[in-house]
Amino acid sequence: MTAYFQGLVLPGAGERPRVAELRRPEVGPGQVRVRVRAAGVCHSDLSMVNGTIRPSYPLVLGHEAAGEVVEVGANVTRAAVGDHVVLNWQPACRTCWFCEQGEPWLCSTSSGVASLENGVTLDGVPVHVALGLGAFAEQVVAPEKAVIRVPQSLPLEKAALLSCGVLTGAGAVRNTAQVGAGESVVVIGLGGVGLSVVAAARAAGAAQVIAVDVTEAKKGLAEAAGATDFVVSSDALSKDIRGRTSGRGADHAFECVGRAATIRAAWRATRRGGKVTIVGMGSNDDLVSLSALDIFSSARTLRSSVYGSADPDLEIPRLADDVLTGRLTLDHLITDRIPLSAIPSAFDQMTRGEGARSLVTL
Ligand code: APR
Ligand code: ZN
Repeated sequence: MTAYFQGLVLPGAGERPRVAELRRPEVGPGQVRVRVRAAGVCHSDLSMVNGTIRPSYPLVLGHEAAGEVVEVGANVTRAAVGDHVVLNWQPACRTCWFCEQGEPWLCSTSSGVASLENGVTLDGVPVHVALGLGAFAEQVVAPEKAVIRVPQSLPLEKAALLSCGVLTGAGAVRNTAQVGAGESVVVIGLGGVGLSVVAAARAAGAAQVIAVDVTEAKKGLAEAAGATDFVVSSDALSKDIRGRTSGRGADHAFECVGRAATIRAAWRATRRGGKVTIVGMGSNDDLVSLSALDIFSSARTLRSSVYGSADPDLEIPRLADDVLTGRLTLDHLITDRIPLSAIPSAFDQMTRGEGARSLVTL
């Protein structure tokens, strides 16, 4: 194995990422080296480029990925060389108050770690890796708790999608909102995350899944994911949704964009007593305004879903099984297969709201 590998480096917020030759770190005790085979381009990567989230720079981007373990450090027990693994960008410590409460997605040790240094260097200078991974790269060195083994029979392209978008979307439906059979669901924003919400809501038995995006371009993808209705977003959205839900509004709305305006739209699309689940990650200065009377009289619940309110160690293997047995189809999510060098164009495409997931194959 050579001392260098290729990865996509973002020099600073607002700059153009570029492919660079990075020097690989040693694998320390309790760590593993993963040869990344597939990585999805997620909106959270774009949020690090456009400054919505502010990690440290220079930064190796990427966090939704899967690959093969090629080296293990001393005392590693969770994985062996040759294992196929999904990467977990928020591995729970299992000892903090939240982990002990059974809420590992809120782990106080790993939450909010947008980037860290793990020994990767560029021209002798340390670079940070996004969400402890930096998975837009040929290899990743991470603690063993950040890898989750999956069956060799699961294609690594599909395994990669489980690591962020699918776990987030499916978890929001199953764990956070607990959508039940026969319920009506509105999904606002149909990227990789929103389309995963659509598919999971149908799989949970929702009778009606109304998919919403800004143009007709997402209609085909929404229907492929299982949407029963498709609506182009407008000022008349809540009226349109009420018209499709016996005048009441939907039992559930999922916001999968990450903006105050769409959070308000999700709120207004929901019936009295309904549940509004915020899946999108917005910025700190985008404020949502709701009237005090409306909050009281609508009796709605508004809750965010961080990493699908899931324990990835338990749910990634379940999702892998769902894919292998055909209960969960992911084929429609992959709309492009690209090399590392094409990720900046994939960000441009995402900014225009096109496609579902661009998948980097390595
Ligand atoms: N109304 C409806 N849809 C919208 C609106 C709007 N006002 N604005 C944007 N969208 C749509 C876009 O057209 C796009 O189809 O939201 C979708 C967002 O998809 P992606 O950019 O592919 O994002 P994705 O990776 O799915 O992530 C969505 O979840 O995890 C978070 O950080 C992530 O906030 C992001 C969100
Ligand atoms: Zn992501």
